[in-house]
Amino acid sequence: MNRRGDNSDQVRAMYESLPYPARDPADEDRRLVRTSLDYLPKISHYGFAGRLHQRRPLRVLVAGGGTGDSLIFLAEQLRRVDAELVYLDMSEASTEIARKRAARRGLDNIRFSVGSIDRINPDEYGYFDFINCSGVLHHLPDPDAGLSALARVLADGGVIGLMVYARYGRTAVYQIQSLIDTLSDADEPLPARMDVAREALDALAPGHWWKRSEELHTDHKRYGDAGLADLFLNPIDRAYTVPELYDWLERCGLDLIDFADHRLAYDPASYVRDSTLAQRIAGLSRKQQQAAAELFSGTISKHTVYVKGRGSTASTARPSAEMIPVAAFELDQAKLVRDFNPSASGQNRTVEKPGARLSLPVNPISTYLFRSLDDRNDLGAIKSGLIRESSGQAPDHWLTDQLDALIELLVRADMLYLVDSHEVGNWLERTRPWPHPLNP
Ligand SMILES: C[S@@+](CC[C@H](N)C(=O)[O-])C[C@H]1O[C@@H](n2cnc3c(N)ncnc32)[C@H](O)[C@@H]1O
Repeated sequence: MNRRGDNSDQVRAMYESLPYPARDPADEDRRLVRTSLDYLPKISHYGFAGRLHQRRPLRVLVAGGGTGDSLIFLAEQLRRVDAELVYLDMSEASTEIARKRAARRGLDNIRFSVGSIDRINPDEYGYFDFINCSGVLHHLPDPDAGLSALARVLADGGVIGLMVYARYGRTAVYQIQSLIDTLSDADEPLPARMDVAREALDALAPGHWWKRSEELHTDHKRYGDAGLADLFLNPIDRAYTVPELYDWLERCGLDLIDFADHRLAYDPASYVRDSTLAQRIAGLSRKQQQAAAELFSGTISKHTVYVKGRGSTASTARPSAEMIPVAAFELDQAKLVRDFNPSASGQNRTVEKPGARLSLPVNPISTYLFRSLDDRNDLGAIKSGLIRESSGQAPDHWLTDQLDALIELLVRADMLYLVDSHEVGNWLERTRPWPHPLNP
């Protein structure tokens, strides 16, 4: 059972007493939290055909920004770029933490605003090229009103990065929420409800769904009380299946560009080997295939997507000679170069990042590609370099076909993004707030 109704005052009260995620501004001195939806090459790849630099000045909204993870990562990347960021959240306590984190880093490219998403409008805020709204709209009494308001401030060709809860993967969470609701009143003070939650978790039967699936939900372990409250005690909490997600976007005048995390989990081919079942699946629409994949998986607990306005020109980059492949920041590139060393030729090595895992053969193609991902080489240069290095040992077209297939697989797994070579001279090197492992 999901918790619904108009309890927005209680939602706000919860985030005032327990800002989420729990963050100490002093930690900004020692690390940068990086959030997958907000990596600029990824945004450029999925929504701007690899040409995000053409949006100038770049206007970014972080809606329901909480304590500022996405905001700080975006603002750091945009520190030396012609860009303007707006942060919006209804919790003053969360806003204060986000503001202190930005101040600690000396970021002065952010406008802070306290208020509710459903009131945002173009007259007051203007239009945005990129909107981040992660983990927020499923806590609104009327998510349609919230998402429609965001759609109204989306610039032509702009993109929204959205995360909402996924229903089936949260099955155990909703059982625990029902248990807490049975044992306590919704208007009891939060600390008393937290005690009920902790004691209830301790008393669960050994084979309870929660114990079988706890690894899917890390908030209560990573963020202490704030995480526990966010998981089990939010006064408004709803979740979407894949078809419900599509329907919701459609009602709000938006279209799905693509899933942005755990992408292979939305592909039925990740589960189905049997050819008659595969034939049935091939006859389904993209939406039905993804709906089936969600049910094959059973464990998707969040849907993370990029979406665009209906009829928008926003589009995903395609491979071509002038595109530069950029690795996902979650990949350990130095390790890839070590693992895909020619001395391991003929063996398989694992390439992984949260939500994606591939086993790939070590061969001259994978070895050359992983060595070339320095944010400067474009696909044309990589192809000609590979042909040169193989010095006629394999036909050119065979080498380039193999390279194309490897790149396609890595892109599909969300491990590689394609950006136009003009991104480099224009801003790519200025947006990277950490040294490139292959190109320091
Ligand atoms: C789970 S936190 C997510 C924070 C952040 N987006 C992140 O991913 O780290 C949800 C945030 O949404 C904010 N929020 C909830 N409803 C809102 C609304 N109607 N308008 C603005 N902010 C809202 C809460 O105050 C809270 O900071």
